Amino acid sequence: MDGPTIAASQPIVGISSVDIDGHKKCSRNYEKWTADLHRILCMQGGDDDGSYARNSEAPASAIDLSKPFLVEAINRMKLFRGESSLRIADLGCATGINTLSAVDFLVENLEKRYSNESVKKPEFEAFFSDLPSNDFNTLFRSLPPMNIKGLHQHTRSSINSRRYYAAGVPGSFYDRLFSTGKLHVAISLSALHWMSKIPVAVVDKNSKAWNQGRAWIDSARKEVVEAYAEQSEQDLKAFLHCRAEEMISGGLLYILMAGRPDAEHPEHQLGDPDSRAKHPFTNSMDEAWDDLVTEGLIDEETRDSFNIPAYMRSIEEVRRAFNQCNAFDIGRIEFQRVPEHSKEKQEEWIRDPLSYGRTKANLVRATLKPMIEAHLGSSKLSEEMFKRFETRAAADTKMLHKTCYYGIIVVFAIRKLDFYCNPLHHQYQMSYAQRFVDLQRNRHDPLGDIIVLNFSNANPKRSVASSDDVMTRFAEE
Ligand SMILES: C[S@@+](CC[C@H](N)C(=O)[O-])C[C@H]1O[C@@H](n2cnc3c(N)ncnc32)[C@H](O)[C@@H]1O
Repeated sequence: MDGPTIAASQPIVGISSVDIDGHKKCSRNYEKWTADLHRILCMQGGDDDGSYARNSEAPASAIDLSKPFLVEAINRMKLFRGESSLRIADLGCATGINTLSAVDFLVENLEKRYSNESVKKPEFEAFFSDLPSNDFNTLFRSLPPMNIKGLHQHTRSSINSRRYYAAGVPGSFYDRLFSTGKLHVAISLSALHWMSKIPVAVVDKNSKAWNQGRAWIDSARKEVVEAYAEQSEQDLKAFLHCRAEEMISGGLLYILMAGRPDAEHPEHQLGDPDSRAKHPFTNSMDEAWDDLVTEGLIDEETRDSFNIPAYMRSIEEVRRAFNQCNAFDIGRIEFQRVPEHSKEKQEEWIRDPLSYGRTKANLVRATLKPMIEAHLGSSKLSEEMFKRFETRAAADTKMLHKTCYYGIIVVFAIRKLDFYCNPLHHQYQMSYAQRFVDLQRNRHDPLGDIIVLNFSNANPKRSVASSDDVMTRFAEE
């Protein structure tokens, strides 16, 4: 086990051994820690007990629960005709059963739609995208062999085969990942609540937003939560802006992210008090960090400078970002509650609280291990932290009897049409504008392609508009 000197002698991302006592130096390094987040944020790779692949039941339940929503979204998107291939991106794909099953489900239902509408089916290309630190190797190894056009119909079951071409795209979804107009469908499942960075004020001792003694923001001071909310707003705007560029008009954007009920203030990130108390980012987590301090394994500054970069948005916050972006029409948006685990699991854990502690600690390893290791600069020390967490979670037997929930927000949106204002014949404009408005009002398949309108602009100018914008501007002509 690492001794008490480890915190001062190991290189720690964000805090170096020499500057641990100087606030000025610390702030500079904290900035580095938060700026480097995209290099270290990832789920734990591989497939051992502490891997994300083995600890992704809750995201799996969220995906299952929202499947009818995805089917509705597929049926409402533009049916792209005459395209040789449909390009799909899974943003924040991680690795494991959810990754493949989500894309399988998507392709299966897109194929169904083409077949139901007797339209020639295109080929499918799936781009699995995540931060460069993601375990793409495990993901690629788990891809089943291709089975395009039922080539292996007699030798392999369709469950063990893949009906799409696959590729990996490393990078942050808060930046551009694809060329303009590349994607027909983009999905992001249980990923968008991860922020691009920790707000600097949160780790600045002199700031009102300094998040002392907490690893996360549930029940934190107003200023801390506001700093997170602001960062989260900027992030979602950046995400939507990038997707607006990358997606074809009529294309489908489907997002499932952790979220909070609209009625809850942001300092109550997790809804009801029991769900908040039992969440792995709250009580047991803070107690485990405190234990490391009490035992002299780390100093207070090391504890205080660790913050989990996640924010649960409300529907209102998500809507606001979509409205500001103005490139998508929201088809539907909903908040749903996902039970933390099954009744059978709960009964099993009531009989054996130690196994509950182990399971919860593995869940935390799966989601936070790379970040905590990078913060502490020592895998041994981070293991000590997970052990403390396991003990604390197992000891909280009162909570074992509570049924708790994760909140999710599911939203699907269709990429609006692009309008290129060009000098064209007046009647031509009229027919296109009217047709577009009719299609939108009747909720038909949107036109999807670029529409060219003349708004008397001498220089062609690109803009995105809703049907009402078009008619208003058209009337002004
Ligand atoms: C909880 S996992 C969800 C994985 C999978 N979609 C599922 O439903 O099981 C969240 C994923 O989002 C990724 N992620 C977080 N921030 C990201 C960013 N800025 N850009 C791309 N991926 C990101 C993480 O690396 C992680 O793999």
